[in-house]
Amino acid sequence: MMKSPIFIAYSVLLLSLFTVHANNYDNSFSPKVKSSIENQKHIIPGRFLIEYTANDIHNDDIFDSLMNTYQTVSVGEAVTLSDGGHIRAVHNDNANEHDNFLQTLVDHQNVVAVYPVTYIARPASKSNGYFGQTSPETTKKIQAHSLTQVDQLHKEGWSGKGVRICVLDTGVDYLHPALGGGFGPGYKISFGADLVGDEYNPMAQNNTAPSDNIPPLDNCSKLNKEADGHGTHVVGIIAGNDTSKGFIGVSPDADIGVWRVFGCNGGSSSEIIMKAMVEAQKAKCDVINMSLGNGAPWAEQPHAAFAQKLAKQGISVVVSNGNNGESGAFTVTDPAGAHDALSVAAATNPNYLGSLFSIKTSTGKTYGPYSYQVAPEANDEFPDGDIVLGGASDTLSACESDTVNNNRNLKGKLALVKQGPCQITEQANRVAVAGAIGLVYFNTQANHLIRAPFINASIPIATISSVSGHHLMSILKNVDSNRDHVHIKFERDAFVFESATADSIAYFSSIGPTVELDMKPSFAAFGSDVYSTLPQYLGGWGTKSGTSMATPYVTGVVALMRQALAEKNLPLQTLHERLQNYGKILNAFKDKSSLLDSPLRQGAGLIQAYNAIKEPLHISPSYFSFNDTRAGLEYRSHSLKITNTGSKTVKYRVSCTASASISPYGSNNTDFRLVGYDSDKFYTDSVNVKVTVDQDSVELQPDESKQIIASVHIPVKYNANDQIMYGGFIQFEPIGTDAAQAHVPYFGVLGSLYDLPTFKTSELNIKNQQGRIYDHNDTFVFKLSDPSTGPNIGFHLMTPSRRFVIDLIDSNDNRIGYIVPTYNYAERSLNAMSTKELNPWTGKLIADDNIDSVPFIVSPGLYRIRWSALRMFGDIDKNEDWVVQTSCKLEIVA
Ligand SMILES: *[C@@H]1O[C@H](CO)[C@@H](O)[C@H](O)[C@H]1NC(C)=O
Ligand SMILES: *[C@@H]1O[C@H](CO)[C@@H](O)[C@H](O)[C@H]1NC(C)=O
Ligand SMILES: *[C@@H]1O[C@H](CO)[C@@H](O)[C@H](O)[C@H]1NC(C)=O
Ligand SMILES: *[C@@H]1O[C@H](CO)[C@@H](O)[C@H](O)[C@H]1NC(C)=O
Ligand SMILES: *[C@@H]1O[C@H](CO)[C@@H](O)[C@H](O)[C@H]1NC(C)=O
Ligand SMILES: *[C@@H]1O[C@H](CO)[C@@H](O)[C@H](O)[C@H]1NC(C)=O
Ligand SMILES: *[C@@H]1O[C@H](CO)[C@@H](O)[C@H](O)[C@H]1NC(C)=O
Ligand SMILES: *[C@@H]1O[C@H](CO)[C@@H](O)[C@H](O)[C@H]1NC(C)=O
Repeated sequence: MMKSPIFIAYSVLLLSLFTVHANNYDNSFSPKVKSSIENQKHIIPGRFLIEYTANDIHNDDIFDSLMNTYQTVSVGEAVTLSDGGHIRAVHNDNANEHDNFLQTLVDHQNVVAVYPVTYIARPASKSNGYFGQTSPETTKKIQAHSLTQVDQLHKEGWSGKGVRICVLDTGVDYLHPALGGGFGPGYKISFGADLVGDEYNPMAQNNTAPSDNIPPLDNCSKLNKEADGHGTHVVGIIAGNDTSKGFIGVSPDADIGVWRVFGCNGGSSSEIIMKAMVEAQKAKCDVINMSLGNGAPWAEQPHAAFAQKLAKQGISVVVSNGNNGESGAFTVTDPAGAHDALSVAAATNPNYLGSLFSIKTSTGKTYGPYSYQVAPEANDEFPDGDIVLGGASDTLSACESDTVNNNRNLKGKLALVKQGPCQITEQANRVAVAGAIGLVYFNTQANHLIRAPFINASIPIATISSVSGHHLMSILKNVDSNRDHVHIKFERDAFVFESATADSIAYFSSIGPTVELDMKPSFAAFGSDVYSTLPQYLGGWGTKSGTSMATPYVTGVVALMRQALAEKNLPLQTLHERLQNYGKILNAFKDKSSLLDSPLRQGAGLIQAYNAIKEPLHISPSYFSFNDTRAGLEYRSHSLKITNTGSKTVKYRVSCTASASISPYGSNNTDFRLVGYDSDKFYTDSVNVKVTVDQDSVELQPDESKQIIASVHIPVKYNANDQIMYGGFIQFEPIGTDAAQAHVPYFGVLGSLYDLPTFKTSELNIKNQQGRIYDHNDTFVFKLSDPSTGPNIGFHLMTPSRRFVIDLIDSNDNRIGYIVPTYNYAERSLNAMSTKELNPWTGKLIADDNIDSVPFIVSPGLYRIRWSALRMFGDIDKNEDWVVQTSCKLEIVA
């Protein structure tokens, strides 16, 4: 799809339209088309968000002229950003006009920037099983409200009443009994709309938007592979209610509005998300939750900028921190980059759900229990019964029809089969033909269950682990099947297992800081094996893992907080700070059990809802960054304002406790490749950094505030190449009262991001089309008349860069033209191994400072290719802040 002629025509033109003035990167270095290497891949042709200046945001002048010039243009609704600029979506669905259309936009004097509309990936979460039947005791354990203090607030009667929560997601099955059974005034889900419809495909030109006021129902089907009930699961976490199960959401009486921004399959677009954010703003939501997650960590993307604006209007914007923690530091996702958005890390639920079965032979031997999983369409009806070997005697696979058809003893039995060369469904359908009433399936390798798929088999399927499968197989092989029966009994109720990694941050939860060294995540909530509602087409109930599951929990807590503190009329910032002041600090995972985990993994810790609302002490700011060692001294001390909001005098001991440090590149950092959190080299215990406070205790009368200064003392000697990220907590321990402890997390970097290598120089190279790399002393000969002699140009960013350019220079280092004009906000690839390549260059150049210039073909001569990227925290106006590399000689002949 990306290779359609439309896209190619478009992308060529996009490159030709950057406005770049100046030699030597001077002040006027301000391209209008904002795009990054990352989102080039996700661009939707013919659609743009334009940012423009106007007194009247409808600025008819721009839009009238567009409509007059082009027949197929449509414009979306206007949005005002926090800095006063306006944003509006414009489309031109006529592919032949895309080039001129973009040109017209860029040329308009009131248009400040043109953002291509980008593809937004479907929110990611991992399904951990379908559990229709749970007892209230089980539900209580797995919901874990006691560990976040939400149960104490429920006991006091707080339930989110009167608070409006807006959810932008895949829609919701509001017909689910636990979600109110209906939509509209008087129902739990009382407002919102479907903005996309079931068939929505953001890359298609022919989507028909649903007419207004279609409710946001998720009525997909289990045959839609990507319809996993994400929105229904998160709405259940916020506000579900099923008394027979003992299930209760965090904020069950809140008014919920849902905007459906994903169809039954596939992603969404930045335009639809912007539209939903505007609708949510109009609907006067107190809390907005959204899934954007495009992996662009810069705060200047339009939806991140708009999220920031909503936050400034007093709306709590809660976003997930991302699921890329395995890739190590710097993995927080957009729009966690919006400074005032709350970004949520996932903690491991202390318990997880499983289903168990056990075995009894007719001679009275028993085995088990083992765990199993059923596909949702089994609807808990997986039958008990006698089990027999179901496939060929050697492979135990039922992929060959004769092996099954000859197997007469399957009638009325359950069949045990092993993964084979065909699909599970096919195996199920084959044993069904032979009369089996259910399939028990195991795979060949891993020691865990494979997930029962959403499939269309004629009999129910249960999956079991490979270990259990082999055990069961040996039992069945050793019975005399003419006399003995092996009976298998499936427990209907879900069973609770204790997690070995309870109370630590989940392995997948993304790790801060942001590329600007701001501290993210904000705090954590349970995000693994979270039990909640699923659409009824997926069986109604199940568990999922992801920071997507931790986020709605916090959304619910913010609603409780807004209700409980409504009368105090506190600024939003105070509410958010209090949530951070009272988080429960978690330990680092792995063997270092007494070591506190870094704030870059847990933020301020596991959310503690009751303390955040009830405790007297308020500390502001609620976290800070000491920045890196190159940053100015102003970052070395921070002043904290502590206020007693209670009615009694309080006294606290103040101290600093270091957490685990993070070694983002491991100890051998020759190529500065990020190491994953599970690497042995990721944590280092303690580094010689001291953080001190200027008072070791503090007493406050009611309503009194005091200042405390926290300062960092950087050791004289350290290895700046290690880029160690130290961290810790300023702790406030109550003296003589039973008040709760409060704290402020901090972190900093021993080293300078500016000094990180910007390029992997060994991968800035040119290759011929046979793959030969030309090194510096070579001369590459490119015959213009023969495109197959054109060079492939490689580049590899090792750190993100705000500006990146590839140009062609002559022997006096003068620029002849751009090969790749400025990319804004180029991202480092998380996989530091991957090299990007332009394949192959055709000799086309773009003149540097003339927006109307058409691309031209280079003249024969002797040149070099030059790569230039701005260092982290670099100043675009300073030559020395750019890293510049040149290629070998490039001889261009006619
Ligand atoms: C849109 O176009 C695609 C093919 O380009 C087609 O498969 C699909 O059915 C169309 N959808 C609508 C709603 O017309
Ligand atoms: C859901 O979809 C099914 C068929 O796919 C349809 O029969 C049913 O009417 C739909 N339900 C609602 C409430 O739209
Ligand atoms: C949950 O639903 C039950 C009825 O099914 C109702 O009595 C109860 O008030 C609801 N609880 C909340 C907190 O909304
Ligand atoms: C599901 O099964 C029905 C009937 O066996 C068949 O017509 C349909 O194509 C199947 N769908 C899928 C997605 O396999
Ligand atoms: C860190 O310091 C740089 C200047 O070196 C500054 O641009 C950046 O905003 C600082 N980050 C934070 C979070 O304060
Ligand atoms: C909330 O936002 C996150 C991403 O920021 C998303 O994954 C989740 O599904 C959203 N929905 C709800 C209801 O929390
Ligand atoms: C560091 O890594 C490089 C390249 O991966 C390797 O050649 C070198 O031996 C390593 N050094 C140490 C001390 O491990
Ligand atoms: C390139 O040539 C210089 C000078 O002749 C020599 O010192 C250098 O080693 C050569 N480099 C390569 C990669 O061959």
